[in-house]
Amino acid sequence: MADLQKDYPWTKSPLVSCGPMRLVALSKLATEVSAAGGLGFIGIGNDASTMEDELEKAKQQAAQSNTLRDHKDVLPVGVGFLLWAGDKLLEEALPILKKYKPAAVWLFAPTEPGQLVRWTESTRQATGGKTKIWVQLSTVGDALEVTRICQPEVLVVQGTDAGGHGLEKCAGLVPMLPEIDDAVTALCEEQKLRKPYIVAAGGIMDGRGAAAAIALGASGVTMGTRYLAAPEANIAQGYRDAVLRASDGGVTTERGKLYDTLRGTTDWPLRYGGRGVLNESHRDAAKGMSMDENKRLYDEAVKKGDDGWGQNARLTTYAGAGVGLVKQIKSAKGITEEVREDAKRILSRAASRL
Ligand SMILES: Cc1cc2nc3c(=O)[nH]c(=O)nc-3n(C[C@H](O)[C@H](O)[C@H](O)COP(=O)(O)O)c2cc1C
Repeated sequence: MADLQKDYPWTKSPLVSCGPMRLVALSKLATEVSAAGGLGFIGIGNDASTMEDELEKAKQQAAQSNTLRDHKDVLPVGVGFLLWAGDKLLEEALPILKKYKPAAVWLFAPTEPGQLVRWTESTRQATGGKTKIWVQLSTVGDALEVTRICQPEVLVVQGTDAGGHGLEKCAGLVPMLPEIDDAVTALCEEQKLRKPYIVAAGGIMDGRGAAAAIALGASGVTMGTRYLAAPEANIAQGYRDAVLRASDGGVTTERGKLYDTLRGTTDWPLRYGGRGVLNESHRDAAKGMSMDENKRLYDEAVKKGDDGWGQNARLTTYAGAGVGLVKQIKSAKGITEEVREDAKRILSRAASRL
């Protein structure tokens, strides 16, 4: 049995997971990913008001799934939180974590490292250690600190190509993942700590990306942008169409703070920005349009519904640099199985060529 499968026994190797995309990855997407032998994360984000409802739905959906119904020890999905929301979120989430015991919590974007410690300790206490701790990060320094202070089960190493929020300043997966792996291995040997598994995120769109991540040292992968093309992702058709139409993400996407400002989500710590497809809002901001006017036009565009998205429209289209590889709508189950099986095939074909 491959390593991660011991903790998530319904999953198949290599582990394929969907990121906890706030407002986008809800119970439907998460349980479909898990039912396909992956691990789906529900994005609770910074607001626990819908958490109990989503976990109850996930429980009902898991009970209907041949793959998941026998795994009653934990709820076979994960739940993701944005820690900058503060300790009130933790207080609200804890009783629900205790009640449902999801397989994992995904912690991201703290304002200070102490928050990670409080979330880790309280979650472990609330669920008797059944809920594993995943922490998403993007630097060697953060990986060492998080390993030392939290000893999470999983480090999600997020490269700069990732869609949605990530560090404004960080490297791509190819150099970053092995450097983090080496540094964390050395730390764990020196301090006699259990080494966390590494899961790769950022720019992985298909089996080729997943195979590359595994070759770099990852035990599994997380995808966000690719799952935007799944009907189970909770997004408007206009958003999905804009993702399917976009290509050449190195020049057509950018990470920045413009959409947080336009949408009023200004609580993110300074070092984070969101990567999305460039459009009229970006071009106008670059030409010097005032934020007030840009916001007025943004609010107007919201009223247009699906026509508000696209490279010549204005609405937020968070997506990663790999967006050009997302070409067709496919079920979450289909994506999860395709990426896992293609990765295995590619790795064994590559090995046979050497
Ligand atoms: C639309 C969108 C929303 C996201 N929202 C969150 C979030 O709320 N919390 C989080 O930890 N990560 C979030 N992410 C980042 C993902 O967890 C993951 O790091 C990223 O999607 C991986 O890169 P990829 O998009 O190239 O697959 C989001 C990503 C996307 C595309």
